[in-house]
Amino acid sequence: MEYKEIKKILFDKQQIEQKVCEIGQQISKDYLGKRPLVVCTLKGAVTFYADLVRHIECDVEFDFIAASSYGNGTVSSGELRVSKDLSSNPRGKDIILVEDIIDTGRTLANLKENLLYRGANSVKICTFLDKPSRRIVDVPVDYVGFSIPDEFVVGYGLDYAEKYRNLAYIGILDADAINN
Ligand code: IMP
Ligand code: MG
Repeated sequence: MEYKEIKKILFDKQQIEQKVCEIGQQISKDYLGKRPLVVCTLKGAVTFYADLVRHIECDVEFDFIAASSYGNGTVSSGELRVSKDLSSNPRGKDIILVEDIIDTGRTLANLKENLLYRGANSVKICTFLDKPSRRIVDVPVDYVGFSIPDEFVVGYGLDYAEKYRNLAYIGILDADAINN
């Protein structure tokens, strides 16, 4: 399907596949002999997560958490809400938090602190996209797919008002087209 409000394709299916494979290989090396708890942050990271875990070659455990600092708009509210918690106890685990995109860094910084407080042995952050120019809270990112400019992007799990998550590519959304 074509959307006129998507003004540019930033990364197509092939570029995404290549990058996810590279990240998976790096994680496989770093966690050799360990059994990380790989945590998907719902909902945006689902697509990236499902692709990524198939490139991780050590034993892993799955878990899911839903936290956000965003409403339906394109500007962060800065407030963290956890609407679905992990189903396993993070105590003693080596956790890899898998995120779709880091913008201000508030969501991830809060989540990481929360997991360490609850006794996680280590927490590393893996994000498919990063908007470093938008960072407000300094959070160390261990694995990054692509750094992107300050544009609102959708697809490959990312939404605008719950739309576009199913696109196989990442595109830049034309803000004017939505408002009109
Ligand atoms: P942060 O706490 O400001 O880093 O917020 C990160 C979250 O904001 C991401 O997990 C996304 O849900 C959302 N977000 C930030 N930028 C975008 C974007 O360009 N497109 C879609 N969602 C975004
Ligand atoms: Mg998200």
